[in-house]
Amino acid sequence: VPPAIAVAHSHGSYHVHVAPGILERGAELIAAALGDRRTAVVTDATLLSRLGGWGITAGEAGPLVVPPGELAKTRAQWAELTDQLLARGIGRDGALIAVGGGSVGDLTGFVAATYLRGIPFVQVPTTLLAMLDASVGGKVGVDTPRGKNLVGAFHPPALVLSDPLVLASLPERDYRGGLAEAVKHGLVADQAYFAWIRENAAALGRRDPAALAHLVRRSVEIKAAVVAADEREAGQRAILNAGHTVAHALEHVSGHAVPHGEAVALGLLAESALAESLGMARATAGPLREALTALGLPTRVAPPLDPDRLLGAMRHDKKNRQDRIRFSLVEGVGRPRHEGGSWTTPAEERQIREALATIL
Ligand SMILES: NC(=O)c1ccc[n+]([C@@H]2O[C@H](COP(=O)([O-])OP(=O)(O)OC[C@H]3O[C@@H](n4cnc5c(N)ncnc54)[C@H](O)[C@@H]3O)[C@@H](O)[C@H]2O)c1
Ligand SMILES: [Zn+2]
Repeated sequence: VPPAIAVAHSHGSYHVHVAPGILERGAELIAAALGDRRTAVVTDATLLSRLGGWGITAGEAGPLVVPPGELAKTRAQWAELTDQLLARGIGRDGALIAVGGGSVGDLTGFVAATYLRGIPFVQVPTTLLAMLDASVGGKVGVDTPRGKNLVGAFHPPALVLSDPLVLASLPERDYRGGLAEAVKHGLVADQAYFAWIRENAAALGRRDPAALAHLVRRSVEIKAAVVAADEREAGQRAILNAGHTVAHALEHVSGHAVPHGEAVALGLLAESALAESLGMARATAGPLREALTALGLPTRVAPPLDPDRLLGAMRHDKKNRQDRIRFSLVEGVGRPRHEGGSWTTPAEERQIREALATIL
């Protein structure tokens, strides 16, 4: 078993274990991280029947169950979970174990951040996105009717256990969507990793556990390094938003018919075309298109969406300053653009339209 990855944050650090079969050692690793704290397992309704097969035991009281997917991330679910913990008599010596995708992790982490002013929590991510993105970095929170993740906190986990074997049951579209975030990590931070993903696309497509373990490890290392350099998102962390200005617009305008991962794939492509047409990047859109195609990710929006509506949605992006739409761009594979102290770059509407035309 390779050593765990240590992720540093402002008041300590935690370990991320990535290995096929690591959950067999789950109880032991959790006990080592939490001591004899009283724990409660939180999972979602879809995953309940899988816990046993994954070797996760939830104690006599059983797991606390939230609705599947984004439905978990509401203030109402935060209140419900908090009340259930109070009813169980969980005290300051308690801890939570989130078993699920990013939705369960974000909600559970937010409850842990606020319960009795904060108790520790462990992440057991069960989607590829949660393993290589959501479980690392300490951002937790819930949605409001006005938008996603508008209420939250920074509350790093005490431990993360990522077992690629649990991904066997993940629906294909969710799985491939997670791969898009890995491509993003290669694109913004590591040319060799980007090349490795392209070369191993077939093994990744059949969810080969060894290939997946490498993928998750390298992505976690990249995200951990970026987050350690800029925990509170003052600057450099913005590079993790590559592709996301366009992606969020695609999700919004399609009414979420385009899932997040596919939107990221398309967004990376459009924003690479933008950087090239602005003369800021070379040879990124081509390799990117090849990588996405090899991974079975889309390179065109289907059915098509209205560019006017996409631009409208982008104008509301939180990265914007002084009414100009901003992007986290790369200058080449592995090289984020950092100019004049800023990690984001503004673009004119005409240029954005041209870039969008490459995916529409
Ligand atoms: N905190 C962060 O830094 C961060 C980063 C990225 C995304 N997120 C958040 O993550 C959320 C999305 O998370 P997600 O993509 O992991 O999906 P999800 O948690 O919404 O889960 C999607 C579906 O997959 C099912 N599922 C999960 N694991 C499974 C498995 N192994 N087998 C079969 N089905 C399984 C779930 O039951 C659910 O129905 C969003 O709310 C997003 O905002 C957070
Ligand atoms: Zn994303």
